[in-house]
Amino acid sequence: MADLAEALRSYWTDRGPAWVEHRDRLDAMLAPVGEAAIARLHPDPGEHVLDVGCGTGTTSLELARLVGPSGRVAGVDVSAPMLDEALRRAAEAGLDNISFAVGDAGVHQFEPRHFDAAFSRMGIMFFAEPVAGFTNIRRALRPGGRLTFVCWRTPEENSWVTEPGQALAEVLGPPEPVDPDAPGPFSLASADRISLILTSAGLVDIDITPHDLPVSIGGGATEDLVRYYIDLLPGAVIPENADIHVIDRIKAALGAMVEHHRTPDGITMGAAFWLISARA
Ligand SMILES: C[S@@+](CC[C@H](N)C(=O)[O-])C[C@H]1O[C@@H](n2cnc3c(N)ncnc32)[C@H](O)[C@@H]1O
Repeated sequence: MADLAEALRSYWTDRGPAWVEHRDRLDAMLAPVGEAAIARLHPDPGEHVLDVGCGTGTTSLELARLVGPSGRVAGVDVSAPMLDEALRRAAEAGLDNISFAVGDAGVHQFEPRHFDAAFSRMGIMFFAEPVAGFTNIRRALRPGGRLTFVCWRTPEENSWVTEPGQALAEVLGPPEPVDPDAPGPFSLASADRISLILTSAGLVDIDITPHDLPVSIGGGATEDLVRYYIDLLPGAVIPENADIHVIDRIKAALGAMVEHHRTPDGITMGAAFWLISARA
């Protein structure tokens, strides 16, 4: 498991610069569901909130505004390059009730029973050991403290990922089968599995609500959109030894997919989430 945790840390650290580069497009894609999740958490002024897998800090900044000067937000993320961007943005926004720590939230030594609430927008599906990871989050919450997060449902319910996946498969052939429970964006796609993990982690009052909301990928030049998909799509890494013709064919296939979906308002694709809340 230590090897898996290290591989995941290394993956997110390596991908960090691309996530920083594409932050605006990614934030536009996730803003509506992030707002729904924050509304569900309903942070009150003065609360201490943990933002798990906070990435470049968008939701941490929003939470910090909502808890106000008497509250505090701590963002934790395994990717140092993303946290550098989060720190820069917090300073730029003049928010001094926010701090960030580089670490694996599944094992990080938080102050026990400290936080009133924990939150995550798509940053909590990557624990090498999910029950241990959620137990670690529960222990960081005061008794009765709230956990609210949002995560993806199955890939089949998320055309934003299956359609570019099909475009890649046209060139590379069908992808290797993956373990649906392995750490990754879709590891919490099953409500039964979420319920089992959270219950085993000692969390109570678990509520798992489906939330269907198309995501906007935005507009702009086809080549920018293609690069966004290549850089950020889960598992969509072009093989390192791919020759230039294969890369060109991948770009053409993704470009055709993008153009197929283009409207005057940009590209919007189907997405399906779980909104989850529980208590320590
Ligand atoms: C899909 S991104 C979401 C980032 C951010 N929450 C947002 O909404 O923009 C997933 C984030 O989880 C972080 N992450 C993955 N595994 C983690 C772990 N075990 N502990 C803390 N952060 C982790 C990644 O580095 C990445 O920033």
